[in-house]
Amino acid sequence: MNGGRFASALSGPEAFAARDGWALLTIASYDQPFEAEAFATVAMLINELALRPPACVLDIGVGIGRHLRAFADRGFLVGGVEQSALLCNYANRAVGTEVVTHGEFEALPQVELPALYLLMSDTVSILGRAGQHSERLRQLRQQMADESTVVIEVSSPRMWPTSGVHVWPPIDDISISETVEIHHTVATRSVQFEYHGESFELVGDQLLLDLNQWRELLEGAGFRLTGEIHTHRGQRCSVSDADNIVMVATAAKGWNYLSDLSEFLAAWRDPAHVRNQLTTPLTSGSTGRITDLMNAPIGRGATLTRHHDSFRDALEVRIGPLVAELVFGWNQILYSSCEGHYFNDTGACPVITDAYIAAVAVDDRHLDLLQALLEVAAESVGSTNVIDPLVRERKLWGPGGAVQAVDLVMRRQDGASWESYCDAVDWAVAVMVENLQGRRAGVRS
Ligand SMILES: C[S@@+](CC[C@H](N)C(=O)[O-])C[C@H]1O[C@@H](n2cnc3c(N)ncnc32)[C@H](O)[C@@H]1O
Repeated sequence: MNGGRFASALSGPEAFAARDGWALLTIASYDQPFEAEAFATVAMLINELALRPPACVLDIGVGIGRHLRAFADRGFLVGGVEQSALLCNYANRAVGTEVVTHGEFEALPQVELPALYLLMSDTVSILGRAGQHSERLRQLRQQMADESTVVIEVSSPRMWPTSGVHVWPPIDDISISETVEIHHTVATRSVQFEYHGESFELVGDQLLLDLNQWRELLEGAGFRLTGEIHTHRGQRCSVSDADNIVMVATAAKGWNYLSDLSEFLAAWRDPAHVRNQLTTPLTSGSTGRITDLMNAPIGRGATLTRHHDSFRDALEVRIGPLVAELVFGWNQILYSSCEGHYFNDTGACPVITDAYIAAVAVDDRHLDLLQALLEVAAESVGSTNVIDPLVRERKLWGPGGAVQAVDLVMRRQDGASWESYCDAVDWAVAVMVENLQGRRAGVRS
């Protein structure tokens, strides 16, 4: 019978009655190597990432808890979240303590500050249908501790699904068939479960991306891709032999957003940290900022964060190269790569007035660099009457305190069209990046 020891702990009809497609798929695909592979993967991760117990590992979409068990056996603190009640119970019994919370990844359990988060076996696809992944990854990033790591295991291209109907071996009298439709980089997988004349369906989208596309997606969501490991049965292997690719991504400070401010401040409260060179001490206060576009009263402004679709799509991509250069080339701490202002004059569609890169000033060098960049940007756009660049210093309040912030603002001049503004931003960004790279080359020579 399919599922072996696992199936005897969890019955197919019970899972069917609960309309629990994930439990059924897990029973159907369970075999002995399934657990052995997880143990090998965990041993490899501990080795490659130099993990030391008792660091805390949080598994998202735990399944039967095979990775958590391997970590727990080696003395790590473990926690996790699992949407299927049946799998959640099973995993808790397997690990031996009630460490897995029954719930959704949108609300991760508050456990000991995790150093490592896991999204194994293409579980990243649970983040939603195609098009939602980027937003959901961003939500996940916001729940993660700064500088913590997430491991995302995806199938290698040679294991990608193919279009068509695939029939799975039945579990008891439950038949399972899967229809796969592939459109470009998305495989839509619909699994039909049928039992005694009743049926239900589980639908999900698997992203079929190359590493550059993953990098782009992850960086846009506030992560930095720091490594990728090709594996075969849980062990490092050559690219051509791989059945999985394990991506290692850090919730990097440089990609923080305003919404992370309280977490950001907490992370920086360490007295030994360079953060304490700031002349403005941390104090508490309320924000008073309007961030909700829809609720900005007529005649008042609102801050558009990168979470706002139209703004993000129009400007985020343009400013990305400059953000990357500042963060990775110059160690600048950016709390927002790109923001803009909106003024609600008619209550109709948004009027975006400017975009800016927002950095935290730890000391005067950060300010000097942005001042120098301002001159480069101003010179590059000349007298086109499209952008009016400026550097703005301010104190930025979050729920738990304040930091000194410096914004490099590409203010749109009155009357300039959105299209010409975007072109001018493109141009200014290219010139600034070139200038920064030239300075770095000069520093090295
Ligand atoms: C592909 S399985 C992987 C299981 C496990 N990580 C492993 O490698 O064995 C995905 C798991 O995510 C769970 N899941 C699906 N949607 C979820 C959600 N919204 N929140 C949390 N878990 C979810 C499923 O029940 C399933 O156990």
